[in-house]
Amino acid sequence: MQAEYQQRRQRLMEKIGTGVGVFRSAPSAVMHNDVEYNFRQDSDFFYLTGFDEPEAVAVLAPEHPEHRFVLFVRPKDPEKETWSGRRIGVEAAKTVYGADAAFPIAELDEKLPGYLEKSDRIYYRLGRDKGFNETLLGHWQQLMFTYQKRGTGPVALADPAPILHPLRQVKSDSELALMRQAIAISVEAHNLAQEMAKPGRYEYEVQAEMERLFRLRGGNGPAYPSIVAAGENACILHYTENTRQLQDGDLLLIDAGCAYGYYNADITRTFPVNGQFSREQKILYELVLAAQTQAIAQVKPGNPYNLIHDTAVRVLVTGLVELDLLTGEVETLITENAKEEKQKYKPFYMHRTGHWLGLDVHDVGVYKHGEDNWTILQPGQVLTVEPGIYISPDIALAEDQPVVGDRWRGIGIRIEDDVLVTDTGHEVLTSGVPK
Ligand code: GLY
Ligand code: MN
Ligand code: MN
Repeated sequence: MQAEYQQRRQRLMEKIGTGVGVFRSAPSAVMHNDVEYNFRQDSDFFYLTGFDEPEAVAVLAPEHPEHRFVLFVRPKDPEKETWSGRRIGVEAAKTVYGADAAFPIAELDEKLPGYLEKSDRIYYRLGRDKGFNETLLGHWQQLMFTYQKRGTGPVALADPAPILHPLRQVKSDSELALMRQAIAISVEAHNLAQEMAKPGRYEYEVQAEMERLFRLRGGNGPAYPSIVAAGENACILHYTENTRQLQDGDLLLIDAGCAYGYYNADITRTFPVNGQFSREQKILYELVLAAQTQAIAQVKPGNPYNLIHDTAVRVLVTGLVELDLLTGEVETLITENAKEEKQKYKPFYMHRTGHWLGLDVHDVGVYKHGEDNWTILQPGQVLTVEPGIYISPDIALAEDQPVVGDRWRGIGIRIEDDVLVTDTGHEVLTSGVPK
């Protein structure tokens, strides 16, 4: 695996040339008082190093004669390690993580300028760690003041994302192996949930059994807060209270996935807790399923990214018009007020049909390169396809639209799969959970 991290750094360094890349570990987050959340490394940092400790900085200096990859890390400290866990330390940062040079993080201010001053550009993405943003800008400013004396030094700050994120967007075999593992565990958990969810159970019981399995199978836990939403709760997109008792006649929407080795699964299924769809539930479920099936069919190399969303929207709007839940020309309903995102179908379907998936659940990678120039799908990309219909009890449509009958209200449905773009088309990675 170290060889792969090295290869990723190499590919990045080929592009940054006479610049220097600086990457900061994730900041730790406070849970309450002096207790912190479990640490999770920043995804860019992890992608380039595999190093998963806080208080670290990685420097990539392609033109440096010896130190092309430098790590600043927390030094070994037996007393601190007794309290807050093992540290790899300065020496192993070289032997284990392949750094050409490694230093205690306390020496950053002294050593970093030496790497920056010979470069003409700093590649650094202003991040969540505001204090470190200040530190980095301070070093740059200092080098500006002393530029006259050297005639070398950075004259620009650049975001590494346009170079790095296209690399992250195309998954390697080893990344796909981890994603498949995250997905396998999540598939098992969804199937267990479908077995156990019965009228009388609570949303949190279903959540607990799923998340138990995430850990039991060696995953890190949920990739994002699990949504277990019965009945009208399914109309709240990010419902995470998970406190309701399942009622006979409820649909249960479960949007849950596990993280495994830093990679994420993201799966949604919706099913009747008593095993039987009502008439309205069945009609809407089949509509969402048709939208999803047709949208997934558009996942193939060469297709523009938005074709997936556009396809899903067309199927959904056509269906809603046929059901008299919307009135008007399908084409008008789709295009009118599109610029302001105020189309008349939006009260039923207000989110997009998916996102890239990888080290981040909403993974990096652009969707659009300016106006109407959508990213073209290519093999190795992984994305979700997740259309839905949400008819909240108090749904309000535009004035010229019909009043939604009571029998439809309170139904929320989403179906979400994780899809790999292959050389010839696609592979639905999450097909192990029935639809
Ligand atoms: N679970 C977050 C999403 O589906 O995007
Ligand atoms: Mn999801
Ligand atoms: Mn998703």
